[in-house]
Amino acid sequence: MGKIKIEEHTKNMIDNGYTIIRAANSPGVVDKIKREIKIISDVKQADNIQESPDWGSHSSFGIQNESLFILKTMFSHPVVKPILTNLLNDPWYRAIESNRPNYKCRNGIRAQTAPKEGVHLHIDSFIPGSGKRPWLIQVFMILEDQDESNGSAIVVPKSHRSDEYAKPEHREEAIALCPNAGDIVMWDGRIWHGTLPNIDCKSRLVLASGFISWFLKPHFNLPNSIPDAFYQKLTDDEKVILGFASPIFRDEFDSRITPTTHNGRSGYDIFPTHAPSYYRQSAGFEYD
Ligand SMILES: [Fe+2]
Repeated sequence: MGKIKIEEHTKNMIDNGYTIIRAANSPGVVDKIKREIKIISDVKQADNIQESPDWGSHSSFGIQNESLFILKTMFSHPVVKPILTNLLNDPWYRAIESNRPNYKCRNGIRAQTAPKEGVHLHIDSFIPGSGKRPWLIQVFMILEDQDESNGSAIVVPKSHRSDEYAKPEHREEAIALCPNAGDIVMWDGRIWHGTLPNIDCKSRLVLASGFISWFLKPHFNLPNSIPDAFYQKLTDDEKVILGFASPIFRDEFDSRITPTTHNGRSGYDIFPTHAPSYYRQSAGFEYD
């Protein structure tokens, strides 16, 4: 998968607001991801762990804290990572080389299926826009084929630069993407999208993650929850993507503020030796 492919997908994202990378994960990788999700959900069920809020059967968050294999597959994919770097990087982030990620993950990694009634057209970026720069990109690793009957994702091509919220009547302009297991779908968070109904409530698994420019607020405090055993095995890029290079500093006396820090844009030198979970564990605050 060469540079040309990355440029082509980057261009699709800019021109159409979405792209489909065909056969981006091998059948072996897809199977392994599905097996790991099954183990995670079985353990959650056995332990009666209820997410808050209860997402019912169609979304389960926090997979990045459960499977290092899945975390690395999502955060270090050889095609996805350079496309995100092209589109989400702040070009004036001086502490990190421009060809390395300075963006971060918004909400960790979740496993998702499609609800029976379908999902109405909406945007994920909270506000619409018309500029050429996205600030949120959604990545979906397709684990089971999607078709017209099991809740395929739908998008309205080019709507990402409309500067408008989606309205029900735009549904007529939407196309069903119907991707296959192994494909990766990416879209600009501003695009009008939803899903078709999943009439028979069939399993239609995807692994999903949102990625944002470094200065936006993530939904979860991802550095706080990553197990230290995982943290020790992360690359510098993966630590940046989790948010370790752009923390909220305590105040102007925070010792992590260094000469290389530029308006909150820090480099690899502020990474802690251990993740916060290590210190909670040592203090006996954690149950495992
Ligand atoms: Fe959405």
